[in-house]
Amino acid sequence: MTLVTRMLTPETWADFATLVQANNGVWGGCWCMGFHPEGVGEGHTPEGNREAKRRHVLGGTVHQVLVYDGDRCVGWCQFGPPAELPTIKNRRTYEQGTDAPPDWRIGCIFTNAKDRGKGVAAAAVAAALDAIRQAGGGVVEAYPEQTEQRPPQRGAYLHTGPEELYTRYGFTRVRKIAKWRWVMRRTV
Ligand SMILES: CC(C)(COP(=O)(O)OP(=O)(O)OC[C@H]1O[C@@H](n2cnc3c(N)ncnc32)[C@H](O)[C@@H]1OP(=O)(O)O)[C@@H](O)C(=O)NCCC(=O)NCCS
Repeated sequence: MTLVTRMLTPETWADFATLVQANNGVWGGCWCMGFHPEGVGEGHTPEGNREAKRRHVLGGTVHQVLVYDGDRCVGWCQFGPPAELPTIKNRRTYEQGTDAPPDWRIGCIFTNAKDRGKGVAAAAVAAALDAIRQAGGGVVEAYPEQTEQRPPQRGAYLHTGPEELYTRYGFTRVRKIAKWRWVMRRTV
Protein backbone atom coordinates (compact mmCIF):
# COMPACT_ATOMS: atom_id res chain seq x y z
CA MET A 1 0.00 0.00 0.00
CA THR A 2 1.15 3.55 -0.69
CA LEU A 3 -0.37 5.58 2.11
CA VAL A 4 -0.90 9.33 2.08
CA THR A 5 -2.85 11.46 4.53
CA ARG A 6 -5.22 14.40 4.20
CA MET A 7 -7.39 16.22 6.71
CA LEU A 8 -11.15 15.70 6.86
CA THR A 9 -12.61 18.87 5.31
CA PRO A 10 -15.66 19.67 3.16
CA GLU A 11 -13.48 18.68 0.15
CA THR A 12 -12.67 15.21 1.55
CA TRP A 13 -16.08 14.59 3.17
CA ALA A 14 -17.26 12.33 0.32
CA ASP A 15 -14.18 10.07 0.70
CA PHE A 16 -14.83 9.77 4.44
CA ALA A 17 -18.53 9.10 3.87
CA THR A 18 -17.74 6.34 1.36
CA LEU A 19 -15.49 4.62 3.91
CA VAL A 20 -18.08 4.91 6.70
CA GLN A 21 -20.85 3.57 4.45
CA ALA A 22 -18.65 0.63 3.36
CA ASN A 23 -18.41 -0.27 7.07
CA ASN A 24 -22.15 -0.07 7.77
CA GLY A 25 -21.93 3.38 9.32
CA VAL A 26 -19.23 2.07 11.75
CA TRP A 27 -20.72 0.32 14.78
CA GLY A 28 -24.11 0.37 13.09
CA GLY A 29 -24.11 4.11 12.38
CA CYS A 30 -22.05 6.15 14.85
CA TRP A 31 -20.37 8.06 12.01
CA CYS A 32 -17.44 8.80 14.34
CA MET A 33 -19.62 11.00 16.58
CA GLY A 34 -18.95 9.09 19.83
CA PHE A 35 -16.31 11.50 21.21
CA HIS A 36 -17.97 14.73 20.06
CA PRO A 37 -20.16 16.68 22.52
CA GLU A 38 -23.39 15.21 21.07
CA GLY A 39 -22.24 11.60 21.66
CA VAL A 40 -24.10 8.60 20.24
CA GLY A 41 -26.53 6.00 21.53
CA GLU A 42 -30.04 6.47 22.83
CA GLY A 43 -31.95 9.20 21.00
CA HIS A 44 -29.48 9.27 18.10
CA THR A 45 -29.99 7.75 14.66
CA PRO A 46 -27.39 6.87 12.02
CA GLU A 47 -28.83 9.62 9.77
CA GLY A 48 -28.70 12.13 12.62
CA ASN A 49 -25.12 11.13 13.43
CA ARG A 50 -24.14 11.57 9.79
CA GLU A 51 -25.66 15.05 9.68
CA ALA A 52 -24.07 16.01 13.01
CA LYS A 53 -20.66 14.91 11.73
CA ARG A 54 -21.18 16.82 8.50
CA ARG A 55 -22.09 19.95 10.48
CA HIS A 56 -18.85 19.66 12.44
CA VAL A 57 -16.89 19.31 9.22
CA LEU A 58 -18.60 22.31 7.62
CA GLY A 59 -18.20 24.34 10.83
CA GLY A 60 -14.52 23.49 11.26
CA THR A 61 -15.06 21.87 14.67
CA VAL A 62 -13.37 18.60 13.81
CA HIS A 63 -9.70 17.60 13.53
CA GLN A 64 -9.35 14.32 11.74
CA VAL A 65 -6.64 12.73 9.62
CA LEU A 66 -7.81 10.54 6.75
CA VAL A 67 -5.46 7.88 5.35
CA TYR A 68 -5.60 7.06 1.65
CA ASP A 69 -4.30 4.13 -0.36
CA GLY A 70 -4.12 5.83 -3.74
CA ASP A 71 -7.43 7.70 -4.00
CA ARG A 72 -9.28 5.31 -1.69
CA CYS A 73 -9.83 6.49 1.90
CA VAL A 74 -8.99 3.52 4.16
CA GLY A 75 -8.86 4.90 7.69
CA TRP A 76 -8.74 7.83 10.08
CA CYS A 77 -7.49 9.20 13.38
CA GLN A 78 -9.60 11.83 15.13
CA PHE A 79 -7.95 14.28 17.54
CA GLY A 80 -8.76 17.62 19.10
CA PRO A 81 -8.78 19.72 22.26
CA PRO A 82 -10.82 18.21 25.13
CA ALA A 83 -13.74 20.60 24.57
CA GLU A 84 -14.12 19.24 21.04
CA LEU A 85 -13.94 15.61 22.19
CA PRO A 86 -15.43 15.46 25.71
CA THR A 87 -17.28 12.12 25.59
CA ILE A 88 -14.39 9.70 25.96
CA LYS A 89 -14.96 6.09 26.98
CA ASN A 90 -14.90 5.48 30.77
CA ARG A 91 -15.40 9.21 31.26
CA ARG A 92 -16.72 8.91 34.82
CA THR A 93 -13.62 7.04 36.01
CA TYR A 94 -11.38 9.33 33.98
CA GLU A 95 -12.85 12.40 35.66
CA GLN A 96 -11.98 11.03 39.11
CA GLY A 97 -8.30 11.60 38.24
CA THR A 98 -6.58 14.76 39.35
CA ASP A 99 -4.23 15.35 36.41
CA ALA A 100 -4.47 18.69 34.64
CA PRO A 101 -6.40 18.26 31.39
CA PRO A 102 -4.31 17.60 28.28
CA ASP A 103 -4.00 20.11 25.46
CA TRP A 104 -5.08 17.49 22.94
CA ARG A 105 -6.64 14.10 22.93
CA ILE A 106 -6.85 11.35 20.36
CA GLY A 107 -10.40 10.11 19.99
CA CYS A 108 -11.64 7.64 17.44
CA ILE A 109 -9.27 5.57 15.34
CA PHE A 110 -10.55 3.34 12.57
CA THR A 111 -9.22 1.28 9.65
CA ASN A 112 -11.38 -0.19 6.90
CA ALA A 113 -12.17 -3.78 7.88
CA LYS A 114 -10.41 -5.16 4.78
CA ASP A 115 -7.26 -3.07 5.21
CA ARG A 116 -6.21 -3.89 8.78
CA GLY A 117 -2.73 -4.98 9.77
CA LYS A 118 -1.04 -2.97 7.02
CA GLY A 119 0.06 0.14 8.91
CA VAL A 120 -2.98 2.35 8.24
CA ALA A 121 -3.55 3.25 11.91
CA ALA A 122 0.17 3.82 12.42
CA ALA A 123 0.18 6.28 9.49
CA ALA A 124 -2.92 7.99 10.88
CA VAL A 125 -1.44 8.52 14.35
CA ALA A 126 1.88 9.77 12.91
CA ALA A 127 0.01 12.35 10.80
CA ALA A 128 -2.20 13.39 13.74
CA LEU A 129 0.91 14.02 15.86
CA ASP A 130 2.43 16.07 13.01
CA ALA A 131 -0.74 18.15 12.77
CA ILE A 132 -0.71 18.69 16.55
CA ARG A 133 2.94 19.78 16.35
CA GLN A 134 2.09 22.26 13.60
CA ALA A 135 -0.79 23.60 15.70
CA GLY A 136 1.58 24.38 18.59
CA GLY A 137 1.89 20.98 20.32
CA GLY A 138 1.40 20.30 24.00
CA VAL A 139 0.34 17.34 26.12
CA VAL A 140 -1.47 14.70 24.05
CA GLU A 141 -3.59 11.94 25.58
CA ALA A 142 -4.81 8.67 24.10
CA TYR A 143 -6.97 6.01 25.77
CA PRO A 144 -5.93 2.72 24.18
CA GLU A 145 -6.44 -0.86 25.22
CA GLN A 146 -3.87 -3.12 26.77
CA THR A 147 -3.41 -6.24 24.66
CA GLU A 148 -0.67 -7.94 26.69
CA GLN A 149 -1.59 -10.51 29.35
CA ARG A 150 -4.97 -11.20 27.76
CA PRO A 151 -6.08 -13.41 24.87
CA PRO A 152 -5.38 -12.06 21.35
CA GLN A 153 -7.95 -9.41 20.43
CA ARG A 154 -9.44 -8.90 17.00
CA GLY A 155 -8.87 -5.36 15.79
CA ALA A 156 -12.65 -4.93 15.59
CA TYR A 157 -12.83 -4.87 19.40
CA LEU A 158 -9.94 -2.50 19.99
CA HIS A 159 -12.21 0.55 19.93
CA THR A 160 -9.58 3.05 20.97
CA GLY A 161 -6.66 1.22 19.38
CA PRO A 162 -4.04 -1.08 20.91
CA GLU A 163 -1.54 0.23 23.46
CA GLU A 164 1.37 -0.83 21.20
CA LEU A 165 0.31 1.70 18.60
CA TYR A 166 0.84 4.55 21.06
CA THR A 167 3.94 3.12 22.76
CA ARG A 168 5.52 3.16 19.33
CA TYR A 169 5.06 6.95 19.19
CA GLY A 170 6.40 7.64 22.67
CA PHE A 171 3.21 7.60 24.74
CA THR A 172 3.53 6.20 28.27
CA ARG A 173 0.91 4.94 30.73
CA VAL A 174 -0.52 7.45 33.20
CA ARG A 175 -3.33 5.46 34.85
CA LYS A 176 -5.90 2.77 34.22
CA ILE A 177 -9.52 3.76 33.60
CA ALA A 178 -11.01 0.33 32.83
CA LYS A 179 -9.95 -3.30 33.11
CA TRP A 180 -7.99 -3.05 29.84
CA ARG A 181 -7.94 0.68 29.08
CA TRP A 182 -5.21 3.17 29.99
CA VAL A 183 -4.72 6.90 29.85
CA MET A 184 -1.44 7.38 27.98
CA ARG A 185 0.39 10.67 27.40
CA ARG A 186 3.22 12.21 25.51
CA THR A 187 4.31 15.77 24.96
CA VAL A 188 4.65 17.01 21.39
C1 LIG B 1 -7.43 -1.04 16.00
C2 LIG B 1 -7.28 -0.63 14.53
C3 LIG B 1 -7.50 0.87 14.38
C4 LIG B 1 -5.82 -0.98 14.09
O1 LIG B 1 -5.70 -0.51 12.75
P1 LIG B 1 -4.63 -1.14 11.74
O2 LIG B 1 -4.58 -0.23 10.56
O3 LIG B 1 -4.94 -2.57 11.50
O4 LIG B 1 -3.29 -1.01 12.61
P2 LIG B 1 -1.79 -1.01 12.06
O5 LIG B 1 -1.65 -2.04 10.98
O6 LIG B 1 -1.36 0.37 11.74
O7 LIG B 1 -1.02 -1.53 13.34
C5 LIG B 1 -0.28 -0.65 14.19
C6 LIG B 1 0.18 -1.40 15.42
O8 LIG B 1 -0.95 -1.67 16.25
C7 LIG B 1 -0.82 -2.97 16.85
N1 LIG B 1 -2.00 -3.76 16.51
C8 LIG B 1 -2.83 -3.62 15.45
N2 LIG B 1 -3.85 -4.48 15.53
C9 LIG B 1 -3.65 -5.20 16.67
C10 LIG B 1 -4.35 -6.28 17.32
N3 LIG B 1 -5.49 -6.77 16.81
N4 LIG B 1 -3.85 -6.75 18.48
C11 LIG B 1 -2.72 -6.25 19.02
N5 LIG B 1 -2.02 -5.23 18.45
C12 LIG B 1 -2.47 -4.74 17.30
C13 LIG B 1 0.48 -3.56 16.36
O9 LIG B 1 1.50 -3.28 17.32
C14 LIG B 1 0.76 -2.79 15.11
O10 LIG B 1 2.13 -2.63 14.87
P3 LIG B 1 2.95 -3.76 14.06
O11 LIG B 1 2.20 -3.96 12.78
O12 LIG B 1 4.28 -3.12 13.91
O13 LIG B 1 2.93 -4.97 14.93
C15 LIG B 1 -8.27 -1.45 13.63
O14 LIG B 1 -8.19 -2.80 13.94
C16 LIG B 1 -9.70 -0.96 13.77
O15 LIG B 1 -10.13 -0.08 13.06
N6 LIG B 1 -10.46 -1.55 14.70
C17 LIG B 1 -11.81 -1.05 14.98
C18 LIG B 1 -11.70 0.22 15.82
C19 LIG B 1 -13.03 0.87 16.01
O16 LIG B 1 -14.03 0.25 16.24
N7 LIG B 1 -13.04 2.22 15.90
C20 LIG B 1 -14.26 2.95 16.13
C21 LIG B 1 -14.33 3.21 17.60
S1 LIG B 1 -15.79 4.00 18.12
